[in-house]
Amino acid sequence: MIDKMPIILDGDPGHDDAIAWMLAKASSQLEILACTSVSGNQSIEKTSYNARRVMALLGIDAPFAMGRAKPLHGEPIHAGNIHGETGLDGPVLPEPRVEAQPISAVELMAKTIAASERPVTIVATGPLTNVGALLILYPELKPKIARISIMGGGLAHGNWTPAAEFNILIDPEAADVVFKSGVSLTMAGLDVTLKALVFPEDFERIRALGNPVATVVAEWLDFFYGFHRSIGYAGAPVHDAVAVAALVRPEILTAADYYVQIETSGDFCRGATVADHFGFSGQQPNTHALIDINREGFIDLLVEAAAWYGKEQA
Ligand code: BDR
Ligand code: CA
Repeated sequence: MIDKMPIILDGDPGHDDAIAWMLAKASSQLEILACTSVSGNQSIEKTSYNARRVMALLGIDAPFAMGRAKPLHGEPIHAGNIHGETGLDGPVLPEPRVEAQPISAVELMAKTIAASERPVTIVATGPLTNVGALLILYPELKPKIARISIMGGGLAHGNWTPAAEFNILIDPEAADVVFKSGVSLTMAGLDVTLKALVFPEDFERIRALGNPVATVVAEWLDFFYGFHRSIGYAGAPVHDAVAVAALVRPEILTAADYYVQIETSGDFCRGATVADHFGFSGQQPNTHALIDINREGFIDLLVEAAAWYGKEQA
């Protein structure tokens, strides 16, 4: 029996965050030490409520704490056009079973990492507000962070502006801290996550499993695909699940290492993840950037994870 990798799930659920958490809970390779919410897809109140409802659905009984209402700098932006008014529209979910801890997300992260015997991996699937604040406030904990697996950015282009992806655009100052931190980073950016497409026929594979979690996942995909279908996608890009897939099934991914910097100013490029392809900076790579994915392998991973809940609950 190998040791499980201790992780903290930090996100803004969000359909693809919820599916990422579904994958994490089902994995025999991961141990979820804590969950934290961040303002992003919707307000912090909504993402926190969604996080706690998702935890109830999946049977995650780890401690939970709320992030702050705003990015480190500037005002929040939300993505109700993609995730709906609640931030997780679609199927009815169980009410939360865990209360929020009376401490902040950053304090819970710090406490969890400090208490862990082994270095902890943070899976960050929302804006990097909490993770950036953690690194500013508790730099002494860096050696105890094994890796930060991020959904965010993209080497080629953005999705909220031509240059910037949503999670980085919301809080570029926090992302800048993270990318300069020296902690090992995996970046599941748009280069790979737009290839992590789940097609309608894949929804049916998941729905056919028939267990309560699989049914909800299929309905999340139905909702999430609605927006993407309207802009011409053949499937739903389940971005955030790639940040978990990178930990549990790295063999389905291809990657390259780059020195990546965050653009925090500029008229057109605020929030861009700028990769040094040709060594102009003279810096060593700071980012393991995921580039491509074996889509069929990714779908099999999602289906296997959703099937696990049927066995668990049998
Ligand atoms: C990212 O933005 C959010 O809407 C998704 O949850 C994902 O984390 C994709 O750009
Ligand atoms: Ca997200």
